[in-house]
Amino acid sequence: MNELINNAAWLEWLLEGMHRAQWFLLRVMHASGLVGDVDGQAAWPWRWRLAGENLLIDQAEARRFAISLLVTMGVVVVLGISIWWRKGRPWLWGASALAVVLAPWPSAAVLFTNAHPTSFHVTGVSFSDQAIASGARLYAAQCVQCHGVNGKGQGALAATQQVWPPNFASPLLWRRADGDLFWAVRHGVKGRDGRQTMAGFGEALNVRETWELLHYLRALASGELLRATGNWPQPVRLPEMALRCHDASKQQLGDFQAQRVLLTTTDPQRLLPDPRAVTVWLPAQSRNSAVPDSVDCVVTSVADALEAISLINGHAALYETQWLTDRQGWLRARNARGAAAWSDDDLLCKSPLADQPQAASGPTPDDQLTRIIQTMDAEPVRFVKGGRVH
Ligand code: HEC
Repeated sequence: MNELINNAAWLEWLLEGMHRAQWFLLRVMHASGLVGDVDGQAAWPWRWRLAGENLLIDQAEARRFAISLLVTMGVVVVLGISIWWRKGRPWLWGASALAVVLAPWPSAAVLFTNAHPTSFHVTGVSFSDQAIASGARLYAAQCVQCHGVNGKGQGALAATQQVWPPNFASPLLWRRADGDLFWAVRHGVKGRDGRQTMAGFGEALNVRETWELLHYLRALASGELLRATGNWPQPVRLPEMALRCHDASKQQLGDFQAQRVLLTTTDPQRLLPDPRAVTVWLPAQSRNSAVPDSVDCVVTSVADALEAISLINGHAALYETQWLTDRQGWLRARNARGAAAWSDDDLLCKSPLADQPQAASGPTPDDQLTRIIQTMDAEPVRFVKGGRVH
């Protein structure tokens, strides 16, 4: 997705390697008691971390960094061999040091970015309808007065702040590491001059509530982006929902690993069973009756699910709508014209590759959905968040 997709595999490797190296270092330091916990997870001890996201913007720098790393690795190997053979020569050590120093390292400003103790924190709360609904209530109570109902930063108190609150209907929430957003909400935001520009909510919110708010913000932002652009330019998952299925071992969406999901509000009496995806019916009200034959499951967390999907859907009417995920759970397509009437334009979360001409093979209306599925499978979602490839 966005910046990454056309880039070379080596860059993905580099970014992922940088992330893993830091993550591993943090684990080791935590296990050996060198760093403690903050908000329930290992605390990153430095004010800086490697910034894969900067390398993504400036690939010339990324290449220099990769070359420097290769030089360093080469030097380590040569020195290792020389020690092994006990043939260490002073000139060899000198030349090695020189090679490492002269390697084309990028500047520190490119290589590093600000970090917080929670920069490497990962959410323990799943992106579920229930979390989003709970986040919505917290947002209305604590955040809306500055950030505004639509998250665009136009709340009643916005103008009285030192800086304007950001527009969440932007790539912001997709660029920043989750752990850094988490820090901002719990411990506040500081401007460049070091002055506090937003107060922290660590006293008012517990850890779970903080993640719920971030999930809500992402759902809200996705819907606002959909309203503004007609697409989901930033990928969003179909929220976890509670289900009742023919297969009693499945009780929530997450139980269907690596399968496409088709969520639909269309009356199941007008649906045909569809083997291309797990079909899940979202009724307008909670029901206790048996699961209809034409679908695999019925949503049971109806009120929360309607609230969450309505947000992501940009508050468009939910009647007669189908949403399709890919096998990774990303929402990719939506169709509000009835279950049988898909069109290529319904693919709302595309990769830039989708602009390239595709092999057009005279589709019949029935095949439109297959075509969307083929495009979706051929072009998986990729994006970089906090320097990490997702
Ligand atoms: C009193 C006003 C105010 C309230 C209340 C408020 N914020 Fe903010 N928020 C701001 C301002 C101003 C900024 C921009 C700070 C900056 O960029 O320096 C901001 C920035 C943010 C950011 C972006 C941080 C970043 O990395 O750029 C997030 C996320 C955020 N707020 C979440 C929340 C959440 C969640 C709540 C409710 C718990 C909340 N805010 C309540 C004023 C507020």
